[in-house]
Amino acid sequence: MHNVILDTDPGIDDAQAIAFALSHPDINLLGLTTVFGNASVDITTGNALVVLEHYSRADIPVARGAAEPLSQARMPSPDFVHGADGMGDLNLPPPRSVARDESAAEFIIRNVNQRPGEVSLVAIGPLTNIAQAVMLDPSLPSKVKELVVMGGALDVPGNVTPLAEANFVNDPHAADVVCAYDWPLAVIGLDVTLQVPLTDEHFALLRDSAGAMGQFIWDSSRYYIDFYSTTKEYGGKRQCAMHDASALAYLVERSAFELVSGPARVVNDGVAVGALVLDRFDRTSPELFDHWQGRPSIAVAKQVDSERVLNCFMNTILNSKTHHGGGNRG
Ligand code: RIB
Ligand code: CA
Repeated sequence: MHNVILDTDPGIDDAQAIAFALSHPDINLLGLTTVFGNASVDITTGNALVVLEHYSRADIPVARGAAEPLSQARMPSPDFVHGADGMGDLNLPPPRSVARDESAAEFIIRNVNQRPGEVSLVAIGPLTNIAQAVMLDPSLPSKVKELVVMGGALDVPGNVTPLAEANFVNDPHAADVVCAYDWPLAVIGLDVTLQVPLTDEHFALLRDSAGAMGQFIWDSSRYYIDFYSTTKEYGGKRQCAMHDASALAYLVERSAFELVSGPARVVNDGVAVGALVLDRFDRTSPELFDHWQGRPSIAVAKQVDSERVLNCFMNTILNSKTHHGGGNRG
């Protein structure tokens, strides 16, 4: 069983990942921690609460996190991708439930210290909360079961700049801090998520066969797939990358992913800001340039069995206890 804290900036693809986390039999979702990114943290926190209500799981705790990056100015929210409301401009009614009276970092630190070795952190937004938590409690990396991050672009172009992926460039300092600590860390970035396309056919099947959860995933995906079909990457095809849910799929279908490893940096500023740079060859750079010295090795996904991951996502949602009245799974 994977006891998961999902750090998230819902976010249309985040809502897909939340559905996956609630539905997979080997995942026990301990809570959501929210962060700015796809929208302000006010909006992402409200969306986290509303999405859980739509999935009949308002019992899952939500802890509000960072409103701003560690040090750089916050990037404008990508309304053109996720809508002004961060959820495809569905203009959903406000949530009836409220977030806990505890910050994201405090929620993470408390749960990991209560259950050393048992909690998996999965971060699918900017890494500000994770960085704040580990700077508050440097023992975290030795106590988490693992940290899985959706972010970065290693050998493929970024989706915000030619080098930078959104979660990393939204807070490059936080991403670089996270890479400096010795966790069991796996980074699931664009190198693999762009190989996992969800199409209108996938979304229609969920709409027709996965209850209220499938309907919500369909409704919120309209805006998102409209945007993606206008991009060069997808050139008019009605599909979108399964970014966030792929990070959760890694937890339960690990052998579908091939990873490379080495010490990593995330560039903090300048033309390459947000770029993930992995020293894969354990080279000894000249002292002046050895920015990887003393850094632990991390794992970054390079290849994926797309069909396996897509089938895992679709079957998990279609067979979800949540919409078959499974309700509370503890
Ligand atoms: O680059 C994709 C990532 O940025 C996803 O987590 C998406 O939700 C956005 O946050
Ligand atoms: Ca996200």
